Amino acid sequence: MTLEQKKIGIALTGSFCTYEKMFTEVKKLTEAGAEVYPILSNASQTIKNRFGNPLDYLARIKAITGNEPITCIADAEPIGPKAYLDALVILPCTGNTAAKLANGITDTPVLMAAKAHLRNNKPLVISISTNDGLGMNLKNIGLLCNSKNIYFVPFGQDNYLKKPNSLVAHTELLLPTLEAALEHRQYQPILKDYEKVVG
Ligand SMILES: Cc1cc2nc3c(=O)[nH]c(=O)nc-3n(C[C@H](O)[C@H](O)[C@H](O)COP(=O)(O)O)c2cc1C
Repeated sequence: MTLEQKKIGIALTGSFCTYEKMFTEVKKLTEAGAEVYPILSNASQTIKNRFGNPLDYLARIKAITGNEPITCIADAEPIGPKAYLDALVILPCTGNTAAKLANGITDTPVLMAAKAHLRNNKPLVISISTNDGLGMNLKNIGLLCNSKNIYFVPFGQDNYLKKPNSLVAHTELLLPTLEAALEHRQYQPILKDYEKVVG
């Protein structure tokens, strides 16, 4: 399915090392003709970190998408009743957000957007990036994999030597994953090796 004129929510959470890849994919989405609506978790809009600065993130995502980012729960809630998104992508998705989503917790704009969107029976795509993907969060990833309308960007172990529990999505596969998810199909294979250690 084409992404032309599709309304896609992009929800950022606090895996800051993934942001450059995220900006690249969001740009590709806009170039494919999608209308992109950014949503930021509290962490992503407040934590100054060694990779960058939240004010820059807000400015860059607004510049790329042309839309004002959603930064509070009250502004994310209408995604439910207005049903204006064709698909929502959590990119990147932290272990924290995956754990909360799998357990029905709704305390950030991203989680509010996910809950609101899922009630409309439309696809939610997760692009995981977490050091505990094969540890404490494996059960949550399993729950999400087995949940209705939830799809994953293919992921693998980015650095099995130094971070044996780490799982990171191949963000460059976002567009084909999204095209499949819009047809309610999981892009395959969902498990994909990293040929080189990257993390
Ligand atoms: C520099 C930095 C990098 C981080 N990278 C990750 C990451 O790749 N994956 C992850 O799950 N959490 C990561 N975290 C931790 C999250 O930011 C933290 O759990 C936060 O509470 C996530 O909130 P959110 O899921 O609502 O965005 C990182 C934190 C910092 C400061």
